[in-house]
Amino acid sequence: MEIKKVGVIGCGLMGHGIVQVAAQAGCEVIALEGDQGALDKGLARIENSLGKMGARAVKKGKQTEAEAAAFAKQTLGRISGSLKQADLADCDLIVEAIIEDLEIKKKLFAELGAICKPETILASNTSSFPIAEMAAASGRPGRFVGLHFFNPVQLMRLVEVVSTDATEADVFASAKAFGKAVGKAPVSCKDTPGFVVNRLLVPFMAQSLLMLDRGDASAEDIDTAMMYGCGHPMGPITLTDYVGLDTTLSILEGWVERYPNEPAFIIPKVLKTKVAEGKLGRKSGEGFFKWEGDQKV
Ligand code: CAA
Ligand code: NAD
Repeated sequence: MEIKKVGVIGCGLMGHGIVQVAAQAGCEVIALEGDQGALDKGLARIENSLGKMGARAVKKGKQTEAEAAAFAKQTLGRISGSLKQADLADCDLIVEAIIEDLEIKKKLFAELGAICKPETILASNTSSFPIAEMAAASGRPGRFVGLHFFNPVQLMRLVEVVSTDATEADVFASAKAFGKAVGKAPVSCKDTPGFVVNRLLVPFMAQSLLMLDRGDASAEDIDTAMMYGCGHPMGPITLTDYVGLDTTLSILEGWVERYPNEPAFIIPKVLKTKVAEGKLGRKSGEGFFKWEGDQKV
């Protein structure tokens, strides 16, 4: 099935990037948000990102200023914003990227299952929850996949495509083809906690925060060690700020509750404290470090 019309629910850190890459690939995209303020913020981020990418392409001699401006205009022209779920009813694909809360996601998918055309493929960008539970809640498990993008979506090349026992073969193939069409390298994953990347990455981030709990090293030194010692593009503490402390905590809390005997799933005290203080990382301007927009200061 060719994906021409895409709905993206949630236009935050991840959603705005998914909207952008789908529109860049030529799809008509509807970005659905809970309120006008969040929608305006998400759409402004897309405009800003397109501006940055255009400036970069011009600097490298890949596009003229006029070409970059035309590309941004065409991309933005394929995007519309909405606050009404009903506007997504005839989408070929809907990608959910709302907060990491399983009950809220299940409620949303039950509503979508009731209003969408029968062929619509439903997908979740969840970092950690079982795809099968959301698929069951939607009432159409055969047409459900996980489509797990990486942050920042515009720059990271991977998408994990997750099937459950119920996912129909043509749905999985269409989801993979969509991943390729938006410029990503799709990998196939089973419906296991954290799929491939987060099963490895989130315990690593948690271990770095446990070092802060114990006072083993400073946040700056932990990050420097992993960047210069292992060639990581950013250290694990900065990465936690980048991902969002609330999202990281939700992932770990969900896993600890569900898999209490898995020692890799553990909640660092410092993470709970920061979230309770409203320090959520890049998205709130402060986490373990201070941020101005997308830049660490
Ligand atoms: N849109 C468009 N352009 C962007 C952009 C965006 N959102 N963000 C950055 N850019 C541009 C910048 O303007 C810059 O352009 P110039 O070279 O012309 O200045 C270029 O991209 C490179 O950006 P930066 O200079 O900021 O930096 P960088 O080289 O440090 O790369 C990074 C940034 C790609 C984020 C890199 O630090 C990185 O790979 N970090 C690790 C990210 C990572 O691990 N992500 C996965 C998180 S886990 C996850 O996503 C799963 C989950 O479920 C939690
Ligand atoms: P975020 O907090 O930046 O954005 C979530 C957005 O969803 C907000 O703009 C919020 O207004 C909106 N929203 C909440 N409930 C809604 C509803 N019912 N209808 C419409 N919009 C609603 O979160 P995020 O970091 O973009 O994460 C979104 C999802 O992507 C989560 O499941 C997360 O686990 C996953 N994810 C996050 C990352 C990351 O690095 N942050 C990476 C991959 C996957």
